[in-house]
Amino acid sequence: MSETSPKKKDAGNGEHPEGDPRYKGIDRVLKRLQYKQDGLIEVLTSAQEAFGYLPEEVMIYVARQLKLPFSWVYGVATFYHFFSLKPLGRHNAIVCLGTACYVGKASEIVDAISGEFSLEPGQTTADGEFTLTTTRCLGCCGLAPVVVFENQVLGKETPQTTVQKIKAVLAGETLVQTPVEDAASPMAATT
Ligand code: FES
Repeated sequence: MSETSPKKKDAGNGEHPEGDPRYKGIDRVLKRLQYKQDGLIEVLTSAQEAFGYLPEEVMIYVARQLKLPFSWVYGVATFYHFFSLKPLGRHNAIVCLGTACYVGKASEIVDAISGEFSLEPGQTTADGEFTLTTTRCLGCCGLAPVVVFENQVLGKETPQTTVQKIKAVLAGETLVQTPVEDAASPMAATT
């Protein structure tokens, strides 16, 4: 039995506008949520997982399936920091610039990363390996300044410790979770 809704022409028989199998995951989420408009964030999340970011044509597709204006979908995608409209690098550092982190000199971490890798927030290195982004409060202000890297929350960071960790990972090392109380200690890494 088809997983797609007979009411949704573009998703009928598992087909989609681009003939791209990555749409299948989006179609599954749409079906599970019964094409309800309040499922938009979950649908966009699945789309980003499938594509690595949110291409414009995918947002158009989601808008059409949920019968929402494209401007609405675009507005949601740009409001939440965890959505990206550009392809990200293989490794992403997200520096929190919320109030507590800003007071903790998180902007100096941004400056250090920018200087070391010659890129501005929102940019990816030419080889596609690393992306620097910033965000607002991540909800763990007690660890300020906070950086999320390799899907780990790094607390009490300094420009030096963050750059060191990024360079080590880009050199092929693995970032090992550091206990919060030892968050300022050097990176534990394995090759
Ligand atoms: S301000 Fe950075 S975690 Fe809250």
